[in-house]
Amino acid sequence: MDDVVSLDPDLLELARTARTVAVLTGAGMSAESGVPTFREPGKGLWDRWSPAQLATPEAWEADPELVWSWYLWRARQVRLLRPNDGHRALARWARTARVRVVTQNVDDLHERAGSEVLAHLHGSLFAFRCSACGTPYPGDLVDGLGLDRAEGLDEPVRERPPACPACGGPVRPGVVWFGELLPEGAMERAAEAVAQADLVVVVGTSGLVQPAASLPLIAAGRGIPVVEVNPEDTALTPHATWSVRAGSARALPRLAPGGGAEPASR
Ligand code: APR
Repeated sequence: MDDVVSLDPDLLELARTARTVAVLTGAGMSAESGVPTFREPGKGLWDRWSPAQLATPEAWEADPELVWSWYLWRARQVRLLRPNDGHRALARWARTARVRVVTQNVDDLHERAGSEVLAHLHGSLFAFRCSACGTPYPGDLVDGLGLDRAEGLDEPVRERPPACPACGGPVRPGVVWFGELLPEGAMERAAEAVAQADLVVVVGTSGLVQPAASLPLIAAGRGIPVVEVNPEDTALTPHATWSVRAGSARALPRLAPGGGAEPASR
């Protein structure tokens, strides 16, 4: 990734004057916080583990302990990591424009940087519910195991999911598995945010998973400018007005008005 991010003056002017901005983020948004992506060759989660074994309802039925342990491991990692300058730049942008964040990510780094998230399209690592009766589980199940650094969490630890207090069924992660429906209303809110935007910013997604990947095409189809922030070309690149080939932690502080770095947040 290049050190100095040079942005098209027309893009910078539009970012400065846009009243409504829709931001669509994927795993690359959190990469520079230390959260692994899914499909990056040699380091993505799906290089080490099989989505069929961990991220489907069938996987849960086959081995709820394995699935539970893996998601709790990911949640503990996130708990020990921090938002990056890209998250903070988006939060600052919202002080001068209407910035609506739609994320595929299940981490809480946007929120911890101060952004409101309009939709978590694929759920959250920190929401839990009963897999049998659907009752939300009220407790915070993500303990840091007394660790203060994510490096101590290089492997999941096998453990049993807690029992639902209402029916005794096993509690599951509040994430959306392949083949499951997205949270009610999430795509509708996201599509509306994109359709009403003066600028759509697509950050850190390979653009391979539907229906999230269809959102930038709504903008392109309406002639709404789209900027992609990603070190690599993606399936969405042909639909982008601008492509910023840099990491989001470096590019977003340059793109967002008032996005310059500030002291570290929570
Ligand atoms: N800044 C911006 N983008 C980055 C950075 C970075 N620092 N580092 C990597 N990327 C890009 C990669 O080039 C890649 O295009 O982030 C993208 C990550 O792509 P994926 O790993 O496929 O993640 P994502 O697109 O979010 O996956 C979508 O797939 O498995 C499901 O539910 C999961 O939400 C996830 C969905």
